[in-house]
Amino acid sequence: MAEVVIVSSKGAAGALVAGEIAGLIRRDPEVVLGLATGSTPLPVYEALPAALAGADVSRVRGFALDEYVGIDPAHPESYRNVITREVVEPLGLSPERIRTPNGAVDTIEHAGEDYEAAIAAAGGVELQILGIGTDGHIGFNEPGSSFASRTRVKTLTAQTRRDNARFFDSIDEVPMHCITQGLGTILSARHLVLLAFGEGKAAAVAGAVEGPVSASCPGSAIQLHPRATVVVDEAAASRLERADYYRYAWENKPTWQGI
Ligand code: GLP
Repeated sequence: MAEVVIVSSKGAAGALVAGEIAGLIRRDPEVVLGLATGSTPLPVYEALPAALAGADVSRVRGFALDEYVGIDPAHPESYRNVITREVVEPLGLSPERIRTPNGAVDTIEHAGEDYEAAIAAAGGVELQILGIGTDGHIGFNEPGSSFASRTRVKTLTAQTRRDNARFFDSIDEVPMHCITQGLGTILSARHLVLLAFGEGKAAAVAGAVEGPVSASCPGSAIQLHPRATVVVDEAAASRLERADYYRYAWENKPTWQGI
């Protein structure tokens, strides 16, 4: 089962996960990180400079989860630009070492395969940061996605397009298609760290952590992973039946173990 850590605030979650990532970077300056977009991972990125305390990040490598298909590369909400603005620039990572799936229409037929090859050539992802959609999606793997899926093109659900319309001038501007790492790709990372905050994510978190393992809740794929950590605030944890046990296990965790 995933280790569930219930924290008091987004800041506490950010500090906890940033500490783990900083440790990885110190041990291996070329570590391969799995980056995520969305508002949820922001506290981690914000806490990283303090956790890194000046450690060299110029050789860190990274792969983002997903990208919109056909979005103008200059659009501020393309995930390439979001990752550049929210992660690469503030942390001082080397842009050429951070990849996002290529959403260009003219090469889309082999973009998934190309991305998988690049991840494999880098030796795989060490730690994958994940958010979760209100319908349980991770990356852009909407309900029904195969647990064996690799990076490929998907059609966004109407709900996800509505959720993401806030980043665009109108819902009509939200692309219909995306290219996303598959659930199988995500499960190949060596450590999964899923974060969620707020009441709106409580049902998705409960489904992912305690619900049946089912493609209807793509986040439940984490139950198949040998090392998955779920970091949630009280509101996002509010529908977890075993919350007391998770608190008890965390309080009694051997100090030498990280997350
Ligand atoms: C998008 C992203 C997901 C993200 C989700 C939740 O759909 N593709 O990777 O987890 O949004 O976003 P937020 O963290 O802003 O709630």
